[in-house]
Amino acid sequence: MRLIALTLGVFFILTCFSYAKEKEIDVDAIKNPRAADSKSISNGNKLFFEKCSVCHGEKADGNGPSAESFEVVPWDFTDGTIADISDGFLFQKIKNGGIWFEMPPFGLILKNNEIWDIINFLRSISKKS
Ligand code: HEC
Repeated sequence: MRLIALTLGVFFILTCFSYAKEKEIDVDAIKNPRAADSKSISNGNKLFFEKCSVCHGEKADGNGPSAESFEVVPWDFTDGTIADISDGFLFQKIKNGGIWFEMPPFGLILKNNEIWDIINFLRSISKKS
């Protein structure tokens, strides 16, 4: 009985690892299907201020009213940091949230296209310093 439990346990852990690995590889393969036109950017702008600025800041600089309370402080989206980050990473993060749920999973609230609009907006305000 113990052996069965142990085998199942090991199997479960291995499955988790391979799943996590698969997810990791997938991220960069995700491409933004939404054109970064003014309609998309302004919609992303609106959504960002509604849903994200409490934590990420009115200016999207990572200085929202509740930003200080976090263990891992959100990035400044205006200083060019995200220029080197793939669309897929940003998409996954917004959709699934952070590991500790400090960053909530917005896949429950936002449609994929709305997430892409926000990413288009963030790219539009991100300056490479
Ligand atoms: C309850 C506070 C909170 C809200 C609301 C929130 N975030 Fe976050 N977010 C965080 C925190 C804290 C981090 C950093 C820790 C982490 O990466 O999990 C983060 C991380 C991120 C990251 C990864 C880059 C980074 O700064 O580490 C992205 C991209 C992001 N958030 C986008 C968004 C978007 C877009 C919204 C709105 C749809 C949003 N967040 C709403 C708290 C929040």
